[in-house]
Amino acid sequence: MKFNLRMLIGARRLRRWQFVQVFAMCFIICFMIFLGHDENTVVGHVKSLSYRYLINNYSFVNEILTVIPNTAHSDPNYKYLINHKKKCEEQDVLLLLFVKTSPENLLRRDLIRKTWGNEDYIRLRYSANIKILFALGVQEDLQQRLPMQKRLLMENQKHNDLIQQDFLDTFHNLTLKLLLQFSWVNTYCPHAKFIMSADDDIFVHTPNLVSYLQSLADLDVQDFWIGKVHRGSPPVRNKDSKYYVSYDMYPWPSYPDYTAGAAYVISRDVADKVYKASQTLNVSLYIDDVFMGLCANKIGVVPQHHSFFSGEGKAPLHPCIYNRMMTSHGHTEDLHQLWDQATDPKVKTLVSGFWGHLYCRLVNIMILCKMQYAETYPCLAAWS
Ligand SMILES: *[C@@H]1O[C@H](CO)[C@@H](O)[C@H](O)[C@H]1NC(C)=O
Ligand SMILES: *[C@@H]1O[C@H](CO)[C@@H](O)[C@H](O)[C@H]1NC(C)=O
Ligand SMILES: *[C@@H]1O[C@H](CO)[C@@H](O)[C@H](O)[C@H]1NC(C)=O
Repeated sequence: MKFNLRMLIGARRLRRWQFVQVFAMCFIICFMIFLGHDENTVVGHVKSLSYRYLINNYSFVNEILTVIPNTAHSDPNYKYLINHKKKCEEQDVLLLLFVKTSPENLLRRDLIRKTWGNEDYIRLRYSANIKILFALGVQEDLQQRLPMQKRLLMENQKHNDLIQQDFLDTFHNLTLKLLLQFSWVNTYCPHAKFIMSADDDIFVHTPNLVSYLQSLADLDVQDFWIGKVHRGSPPVRNKDSKYYVSYDMYPWPSYPDYTAGAAYVISRDVADKVYKASQTLNVSLYIDDVFMGLCANKIGVVPQHHSFFSGEGKAPLHPCIYNRMMTSHGHTEDLHQLWDQATDPKVKTLVSGFWGHLYCRLVNIMILCKMQYAETYPCLAAWS
């Protein structure tokens, strides 16, 4: 009897909760209509998020952005100026990792080669075959182009890890760089188990990432796409922003979910399908990670959030974080130091065992639940 009464109260509470939900929804919609085209960012976010969660299906986006085959790219195949056709040939590749770079960022590339992008180190220490390629276009400035190209050829002779196509290396050509990566995989390395794309100012904890991917490789995972997921992000309509997207280009209030372009990992079936989708979509949308989201939306692949992919944020420096981290953004000069600290064998000894686990659980809660790291790793990551 008592039990039933409690259930009744429970049901009534539920109904009240539903009422609150409906009311809130109406309020948001009225708010949206009332404010119309206001470009205020808070309003924009409320609008885009409501849109994301009310619609929750972006299939109509495909129809409008799909173009007649072979017209998607006015100039489809940019010529390779530097290439390594045999990089993957006749070997199993666990991870093919593209670093999006620009001609002038030689120092960043050198730092990556010496730290997290050191293929030999990963092969010897973790018996995993990873391949790193730096993807770039040509120097924008006409006067510097020739000397820069000579420098790149020399750099490539030494390291054999650049791939370059004949398009201008500019922010607004990032989608071309994305197409370069996907068509390279498709042509020269379709058998790589996982493919990653990363910025050149990022730190990737390759040992952590490789052990994670090794554990998945045996399961033969499909439709795999992880990173820091952006849900219901609104297009930037402010003309002064470098992320500005016109209504002509994308008329809806939010993008389909996508992972931050700073770093994400996909499985080979996704790479294959995204490549095919990219051949059928209008490539005028130059924000590469959003474009990737549109391709994935077309083939019905949804991104999964991984708590230790940082997106735009810089990770807090602590051994308990090093033990879990996958990527951290915004590292250039400090890359060497971070690499040494993060891969120090002392990290593993500190965090192992019952007390180590307990200690790190507490430390991570104290660090990650601070507001300043909300953009890096979520508070919840500490509990996982
Ligand atoms: C999205 O909507 C289309 C029709 O508008 C439907 O065919 C498709 O199954 C829907 N997708 C999902 C994931 O609900
Ligand atoms: C992209 O690259 C192409 C080919 O080099 C060039 O014609 C075009 O101007 C570039 N676009 C931008 C926005 O830089
Ligand atoms: C792609 O979209 C742009 C608008 O952003 C439009 O001007 C262009 O004609 C479209 N291209 C194709 C091939 O449909």
